Amino acid sequence: MSVLQVLQEQKNIGLPEKYHNLSVEEMERRVKEIKDDLGDKLFIPGHHYQKDEVIQFSDSAGDSLQLAQVSARNSKAEYIVFCGVHFMAETADILTTEAQKVILPDMRAGCSMADMADIHQTEKAWKELQSMFGDTILPLTYVNSTAAIKAFVGKYGGATVTSSNAHTMVKWALKEKQRILFLPDQHLGRNTAYDLGIPLDKMAVWDPIQNELIYDGNPEEAIVILWKGHCSVHENFTVKNIENVRKQYPEMNIIVHPECSREVVELSDDNGSTKYIIETIEKAEPGTSWAIGTEMNLVNRLIQNHPDKHIISLNPYMCPCLTMNRIDLPHLLWALESIVDGDPINIISVDEEVSNYAIAALDRMLERA
Ligand code: 13P
Ligand code: SF4
Repeated sequence: MSVLQVLQEQKNIGLPEKYHNLSVEEMERRVKEIKDDLGDKLFIPGHHYQKDEVIQFSDSAGDSLQLAQVSARNSKAEYIVFCGVHFMAETADILTTEAQKVILPDMRAGCSMADMADIHQTEKAWKELQSMFGDTILPLTYVNSTAAIKAFVGKYGGATVTSSNAHTMVKWALKEKQRILFLPDQHLGRNTAYDLGIPLDKMAVWDPIQNELIYDGNPEEAIVILWKGHCSVHENFTVKNIENVRKQYPEMNIIVHPECSREVVELSDDNGSTKYIIETIEKAEPGTSWAIGTEMNLVNRLIQNHPDKHIISLNPYMCPCLTMNRIDLPHLLWALESIVDGDPINIISVDEEVSNYAIAALDRMLERA
């Protein structure tokens, strides 16, 4: 079997056979028809990292924060077909009413970073950290985390953050308590704290596998405790990529997402959330050149939408988020037809107790975002 056939087979796992060989035109026609028929009853949010074949049907395209905000505002739609990854669909379920149903077109669309902080590891870590530091820590979690982690953070007075409000939220947290535990992305935590003037030698790392604090100095001096997690897409942008771009295109501006490592952010010209990257490219003068360090679908879309600018991916091999890419046109059509058939698939339903605590963490963010 060829590599292409293997990939196709993997894509189709769990997808009913009747969707395997439909033409793009047929699928697009059926999706449009269902959208017209369901009208306001249906809402399709889509993350900027989604494929073009999917994002073209989104009612609202945005980054994690914008999608959480639109979900919280939308009380009309009976069905929210979330084109993003599992943690985003969970957030939408938490922020919508009980009568609204949130559907993820492919349940395998997870996030490797969110999987790096498991609730049992987190509870164990918290116990250790409490015995080391007492009641001096506020937990913050990137929204790229499971509902259980958001609930844990909410229960202990903390909040969620996204890449577009991390500075505001870390500043707020450090007014509330002497130190923070930042889950699950060490890079976003480190880059944000560094921007706020916290030196690297005041940042410790919590290793959830070894269940230990990694810190060279006197632990009492640690202000930020970073969970040892990362994004497997953004870690593919390296110092070597930057050196290569600088050599080949000395005039090029390099902009990266803060999920990239400290070294990469340090050597870039600019960094910011998905929304910030999009706005920077939109505002840039025609004729300017940009190397972008973020997910491939978004970089490709920026290249297509801005033919007057020279845009490349910072990593020439491009970096797709494979789990985001699991949402494709056949899965979207399957999800929509399951609604029409009266038997919706892949409903995301967060446990009520988890949801109640998680909403506290999300609300603390949304009030300040
Ligand atoms: P933002 O949408 O907050 O920029 O996050 C990027 C990301 O990795 C989403 O999974
Ligand atoms: Fe998770 Fe990274 Fe994919 Fe975002 S890009 S969904 S953080 S793996």
